[in-house]
Amino acid sequence: MTIEQEKRLAGEAAAELVESGMLVGLGTGSTAAFAIRRLGERVREGLRIRGVATSRQTAELAGAVGIETMDIGQVERIDLTIDGADEIDPALNLIKGGGGALFREKIVAAASARLVIFADHTKLVPHLGAFPLPVEVNPFGWQLAATRIRGLGAKEVSLRRVADCAFVTDNHGYVLDCHFQQITNPADLADQLRRITGVMEIGLFIGMADLAVLGDGGSVRRIQPTPA
Ligand code: A5P
Repeated sequence: MTIEQEKRLAGEAAAELVESGMLVGLGTGSTAAFAIRRLGERVREGLRIRGVATSRQTAELAGAVGIETMDIGQVERIDLTIDGADEIDPALNLIKGGGGALFREKIVAAASARLVIFADHTKLVPHLGAFPLPVEVNPFGWQLAATRIRGLGAKEVSLRRVADCAFVTDNHGYVLDCHFQQITNPADLADQLRRITGVMEIGLFIGMADLAVLGDGGSVRRIQPTPA
């Protein structure tokens, strides 16, 4: 089975966790797109839900498949958020933001009673950090934030670019991709990064996920968080 097929399997399995009446956080990325399309089918079959999108791209897809979305400012509590990830460790700490939507993804996840992450099996890793950690920063003086992140042990910190221009997030931030290689203490690193002036959000999601659903070969594996 290909990685794309595993993503689809996991995404569609996550979509089945959604029940009528729920307010659902809708993740961003290629795996999330599979779940959103499946949810759209379920809406056409009679499922009654509303969604909160984690990016403009997701809001557009949700609208296209017939899922009504609400602005985050109109909601107090989201019942369930389904989202992808770039890396997942056995404690279900995550690296997210490969698609640049980490800020809104974290706001939506933090407002959710339950966060379910779904992915292909390659995203489960013993330790976070091989995938460069995305950190969203204010464009003003981003170089200073990059220098301080290097001081925390990142081997390389690169400004994300699209063609020759800096990639700009939905929140008008820049993204620094920070190569830590192995993050031995994700919670500690998250605390230190948060203290850097100019950092808007970091792609470490610590202790937020309740369940991971992985496409693994032709079947779906469900993983509950185990203590780190
Ligand atoms: C978006 O900013 C990310 O957090 C995605 O959830 C993550 O990059 C996974 O994306 P794919 O499903 O495309 O691998």
